[in-house]
Amino acid sequence: MKATAIAPSNLAFIKYWGRKNGDLRLPTNASISMNLSSLLTTTTVEFTSSLEQDEFELNETKYDYDSKKVQRVVKHLDRIRKLGQIKSRARVVSSNNFPSDTGLSSSSSGLAALTVAAATAANLNLSEKELSILARKGSGSACRSIPNGFVEWLDGDSDQTSFAVSLFPPSHWEIADVVAIISNEQKEVGSTEGQESANTSPFYETRLAKIDNKIKKAKSLLEKRQFSEFGEMVEAEALELHAIMITSSPSLIYWQPETVKMMKLVKKWRSEGLQVYFSLNTGQDMHIICEKKNIAQLTANLGSVPEVKEFIVNYPSNGTSITNEHLF
Ligand code: PMV
Repeated sequence: MKATAIAPSNLAFIKYWGRKNGDLRLPTNASISMNLSSLLTTTTVEFTSSLEQDEFELNETKYDYDSKKVQRVVKHLDRIRKLGQIKSRARVVSSNNFPSDTGLSSSSSGLAALTVAAATAANLNLSEKELSILARKGSGSACRSIPNGFVEWLDGDSDQTSFAVSLFPPSHWEIADVVAIISNEQKEVGSTEGQESANTSPFYETRLAKIDNKIKKAKSLLEKRQFSEFGEMVEAEALELHAIMITSSPSLIYWQPETVKMMKLVKKWRSEGLQVYFSLNTGQDMHIICEKKNIAQLTANLGSVPEVKEFIVNYPSNGTSITNEHLF
């Protein structure tokens, strides 16, 4: 059977950085995110006895079977084959409507779409919790792209207790995440490797000592829709994440000069009265959150910054869904 899924990327307001179990991708702490309406991966999977090995095509490029990208897909398909007791290989065709590997979490939408498409093609009838657990094993943050809207990845200690749940539907809060693309340069160190070295930073322990309170506070601000306090927290969290990255061994510097320029600009716009706050992940591109009423002003400002190649406006969205529009 053939199945196709569409999955959103997500922006973590409180980040997942570091693991208590690498094989199972169990994070050291809970995280909180929002699904993004305009950063989408569409993936079609078909298990077929006519293939001798799995095939993977992304954005019209067919990758070598031995490449890292394909091996990650094969490993994930193996998990699904095991659950569905399937022997046949699969053809997987995937398409991102945004740049990959520049810090926009294409692995979260990618592995969420692969999970749901492959599980459906394998005739597995999995619950949202089971899909989230399965997606987590492919890419941690992918588990948060399964449920709808504003999401918490629970701080579970085992395979079966580490999954994401919806905290609020997309309609809960009229905010936007405007993504500013400043370079298509691909990052040198992927988040999988970065996650492994997080605990080498001397500041990691301090982060962990405060993280439970941070999660509680973020949930409460989200529930009450207190934008400026929430934004302050989100921006401080992104800077804390990068303080850990920069001071890890080996040190990870994901920023480009343009990223720093943008951080300063966001602060300047704020000092001029525009309520906007930034967030960053493993890459140079920037997320800027604002209330819906301020989107026009923010996008006008971004339009006049020569370093911003493109910007993408995202609203809170549902999680991963099935579609009948197959890619092949
Ligand atoms: O799921 P991964 O291994 O790609 O890690 C995601 C890491 C961050 O984007 C920096 C943080 C997060 O929670 O999304």
